Parts: sequence; structure tokens; C-alpha cells
Amino acid sequence: MDRRDCAEAVTNEPTPHQAGPLLKVEGLVKHFPIKKGLLQRQVGAVKAVDGIDFEVRRGETLGVVGESGCGKSTMGRLITRLLEPSGGRVEFDGTDITHLKTGGMRPFRRDIQMIFQDPYGSLNPRHTIGSIVSAPFRLQGVEPEGGVKKEVQGLLERVGLSPEHYNRYPHEFSGGQRQRIGIARALALKPRLVVADEPVSALDVSIQAQVVNLLDDLQDELGLTYVIIAHDLSVIRHVSDRIAVMYLGKIVELSDRTSLYEAPMHPYTKALMSAVPVPDPRRRGAKSERILLKGDVPSPIAPPSGCRFHTRCWKATQVCTVQEPPLLELAPGRRVACHHPENAPDQAPGDPVLASAGEAIEIVSATKAPTEEPAETTTEEPAGARTEAPTEAPAPVIPAPAKEPSPDDEDPKKL
Ligand SMILES: Nc1ncnc2c1ncn2[C@@H]1O[C@H](COP(=O)(O)OP(=O)(O)O)[C@@H](O)[C@H]1O
Ligand code: SF4
Ligand SMILES: [Mg+2]
Repeated sequence: MDRRDCAEAVTNEPTPHQAGPLLKVEGLVKHFPIKKGLLQRQVGAVKAVDGIDFEVRRGETLGVVGESGCGKSTMGRLITRLLEPSGGRVEFDGTDITHLKTGGMRPFRRDIQMIFQDPYGSLNPRHTIGSIVSAPFRLQGVEPEGGVKKEVQGLLERVGLSPEHYNRYPHEFSGGQRQRIGIARALALKPRLVVADEPVSALDVSIQAQVVNLLDDLQDELGLTYVIIAHDLSVIRHVSDRIAVMYLGKIVELSDRTSLYEAPMHPYTKALMSAVPVPDPRRRGAKSERILLKGDVPSPIAPPSGCRFHTRCWKATQVCTVQEPPLLELAPGRRVACHHPENAPDQAPGDPVLASAGEAIEIVSATKAPTEEPAETTTEEPAGARTEAPTEAPAPVIPAPAKEPSPDDEDPKKL
């Protein structure tokens, strides 16, 4: 019998390292080599992830935010070991999995699963839903009690679909339903860690809330631990217990959700947060300021010296250009990589602010209720920049989990 045959077994399963975090990442690095010429000689590297440290506690949701291209997806693929790290260490439940080969990773494949952004591209159109969701059982040679079909039909019900959908094909489903199928497949082997890379960004805003609420419910039901990657700060605020903010391959701030949203310490976090709608109705319409970051996100091939954010930071001083700030615990449970953090005594008040950095932002007063505002871009997007910036028009705040009137997000008759 499957050793994790029921949901309870997942939560109560004794592990050798119960006290420690479920996932521990130290100095994680991924450099993609750039090769040129006939001999394919390496001429440089894309420093997609460049030395990050964090841990994921059991049962929590760690949100990861940052502008497009800052290394979020690469980080997700490294911790699920879909990519081989160039350096550093990944520890899952006390075991070093950094360089495990396919065979060594096999048992961990059951424990660590990934949900992808694109519910269209991640399902094979020629396979039935039954075949797609039962694939993990075949691959791992797991025969659940009662048979695979019964288990898969149970999973479909659990994610808000119908057991009748077993013999249907992906094209018969809407975007939200396909993401539910992706979630059912990820949960098939009752994993312990689920890494979701932009799980709702391809979906309509109304459907996003349903899928986010489903992830929430499944977490409670199955005792899951999540790493949820998103560029949408409203989604991140709704789902996360703690949040890691990434910039150019680094974590610049790691904090609990409330502190991060109420008193961001890293200037980059502050700029991101200044674009988030205020959910408190009493504060709606209150005068607020938005920090518009100017200029291009530098290339991860040759990131700026010192603090990577210094070319866009209004607080940058000389030290920022030469000395990389380490990620330090500046308040209980709050780690920040900045020489002059916000909401803390300035560590070098005498330093002159660099002229170039002083010109890097624009402060804009925003007095209208954020939720009433039309979509607008809050960062200056340079020409050719990728469009997935976190400070793009904020999506409406996802309402508190509510019972879905219908599990299907579109007309069920369509099926
Ligand atoms: N397989 C790859 N080969 C080369 N460069 C890559 C590869 N995957 C990602 N990158 C680069 O690494 C950087 C980080 O990408 P990614 O992790 O996708 O960022 P995000 O998910 O935050 O948008 C980007 O500059 C991207 O172009
Ligand atoms: S103040 Fe300096 S160290 Fe802090 S974010 Fe700005 S440039 Fe970086
Ligand atoms: Mg990505």
C-alpha cells in the first residue's frame, strides 16, 4: 500500500528533522553560460540566481515576488531540482538534494511538486484527463488502494472537478479548469512541498480568486507547504505567510507579510508596495505616494557593482556602489540587504546621495481610491522591457476565501 495513502498520513508522517525547516537553501547560484563561436567557448553567463539563502517552514506559504527576469522561475526550478544548481546547497527535510541524479531524486519527486503558469501548455492535448492525472502513479510505480482510477476521480473531485471528467480531453476545459487539472496532477502523490510558478497569472481576475482559494483550502486539508511565485502583489499578499522579494538574482528582503506590507525596509520593496491598492476601506481615498522607478532593469549578465539596486535607488550613496549589502536580520524575523534601510535608523546619514540615483525615481501623489483607478503602469517601462513587471497595474485584491458557487469557472454545460 502507498505509504501516504491518506491525507492525514501526510501531516502526521514522522520525519527525521521535524524541528527544522522543510526546505533550506544556502548560497544558491544558477549561472547560464553564454557561448559563442564555432568552438562554443563560454564568453559570459546570465547570473539568473546569484547566491540566495532562505528557508521554507513546514506548513507555511512563502511568496516570492520581483520584476520579470529577476530569477524567480529559475529559483523555483532549482529547488524542485528541474535545474542543476551552479553552486550552493538545497536541503529538503534535512537531506542534501543539491546534486542528486535522477535515481537519487526519485523518492523526492513525490515530495516536491511544481505547478506551472500555463494551464494550456502544461497539459498534453492528446491525453485524457485521467491519463494526465494518473501519470505520476505510473511514473513512480504507485498503486493506491482502490486502484488508480478511483484515486484520480477522487482527486478531480477534490480540486472542484467532476469524476465524469476522467475521459475528457484538455481542450474541453476552460483555463481555470485546466489549472485545476494541473493542481490535481501535482497533488496526485500527496507531496509535501508544492512550488507554484505564477499559478494564476494566465487566468482571468475573477477566476484567479477561485484558484487561489482552492490552493488555500488544499493547503489546510493536506498540510501542504507552498512556495508561490507571482509578480502580482495582491495575489502574494493574499496567499503568503512570509514573502521574499527578489531583485536581479538576489533576495533583497525576506519578511512576514504584515511587516513587509506595512513597513517595508528595502527601498525596492517600498517602491513595489507603493503601487499596491489599499484593501482597508477606511484608508481608501487617503493621500498616498507612488514611487515610480525609472530606468531599465540592469542586465543579469553584468549586474551593477555593490548593491544591484543602486542604479535605481533614491537612497544610494558611495558605499552602495562598491559594497554589496549582505542580507542581515535587522528586526526579529526580518532580513534586509541594504546599507540604508527604510523604517530603520539610517546607517550612514552623512553620505551624499548620488546625483544619478537621486534622479532615478519620481514621486507621484495618488489621492484616488486605488481600486477605482483604471489600469495604469506604475513603473516606467523602458522600450523593449519585458512586460511582467510587478508594479504593473495592480489586480484587484482577492477577496477572502468564499465558498465557490460552482466549482467550474465557466459554464459547466460547455463540457
Ligand atoms: N535556460 C536559460 N538559459 C539562459 N538564460 C536563462 C534561462 N532561463 C532563464 N534565463 C535568464 O535568467 C534570468 C532570470 O529568468 P527567470 O528565472 O525566468 O526570471 P523570472 O521568473 O523572475 O521572470 C533572465 O534574464 C532569463 O532570460
Ligand atoms: S540604499 Fe544603497 S544598499 Fe540600500 S537599496 Fe539603495 S542602493 Fe542598495
Ligand atoms: Mg518566471
